[in-house]
Amino acid sequence: MSENKYILNISGLSAGYFINGEYCDAVKNANLNIKEGETFAVVGQSGSGKSTLAMAVMGLLPIDNGKISKGTIKFYDDEISSVIEKIRGKEIAIVLQDPHSYLNPVLKAGRQVYEAVEIHNPNLTKEEIYERVKDTFIKVGLVDFERIYNSFPHQLSGGQKQRVLIAMAVINNPKILIADEPTSGLDVHIQKQILELFLELKQKLNLTLIIITHNILIAKKYADAAAVMLNGEIVENKKTANLFSNPEHEYTKMLLRHVKLDNK
Ligand SMILES: Nc1ncnc2c1ncn2[C@@H]1O[C@H](COP(=O)(O)OP(=O)(O)OP(=O)(O)O)[C@@H](O)[C@H]1O
Ligand SMILES: [Mg+2]
Repeated sequence: MSENKYILNISGLSAGYFINGEYCDAVKNANLNIKEGETFAVVGQSGSGKSTLAMAVMGLLPIDNGKISKGTIKFYDDEISSVIEKIRGKEIAIVLQDPHSYLNPVLKAGRQVYEAVEIHNPNLTKEEIYERVKDTFIKVGLVDFERIYNSFPHQLSGGQKQRVLIAMAVINNPKILIADEPTSGLDVHIQKQILELFLELKQKLNLTLIIITHNILIAKKYADAAAVMLNGEIVENKKTANLFSNPEHEYTKMLLRHVKLDNK
């Protein structure tokens, strides 16, 4: 595969929700090209449509009231909707904003990761799966493997839970990993550790990493390119270095002014 091939191509995408019977787009006419191996950030304030965009890509918009109203999403050359059931959790994985709502409270952490392997690899033996879980736990910094494996989610710290979810997301060697505000709710020190972990995993596993964040400084520090979202629209999309040296949209300029003020 050539270096510059787009792994994800989003074209004219609108997606949103029915609220009281009325449909409203939360993402409006979005265009994005993401290159294989790149770290891409989606930046924007709360409610700007970042998670809706991610969920549209993952085929996880709520069945009862969510829909894609327009446009296309391609994973390499495939229309993603035709392959997503097969590739979700395998070729493309997501780590969500809120680990509490994603981990099953009555199943031990290790078992949950075990099942994520089992479902996509029916030919592996129990021992092989267990070994893979162990390797991955260690890779994501859960070195106290036995204890974490046998803990229920409520017995783990926020950072540990997030690492379990990261293990679950990367254990089947995905090509794309989407991290949707993976550090919200964690203290600043752990936030940094988790972001560094994503970067380390990206190198080790050759991931294409999509980081969703409200913090433009995270985009600057970690991403090659970034899209800025405002009210469902992508208002600016370019290499991160250019975003900072030459912001064009008023909203981007405003975000950068705030960052500068905060750092004074
Ligand atoms: N399940 C839902 N049903 C109806 N409306 C929704 C639903 N989920 C999100 N929305 C609406 O869609 C818009 C975009 O929300 P979204 O969650 O995509 O924003 P976001 O950028 O991820 O925000 P945050 O930074 O707070 O996570 C918001 O106006 C929100 O109220
Ligand atoms: Mg969100």
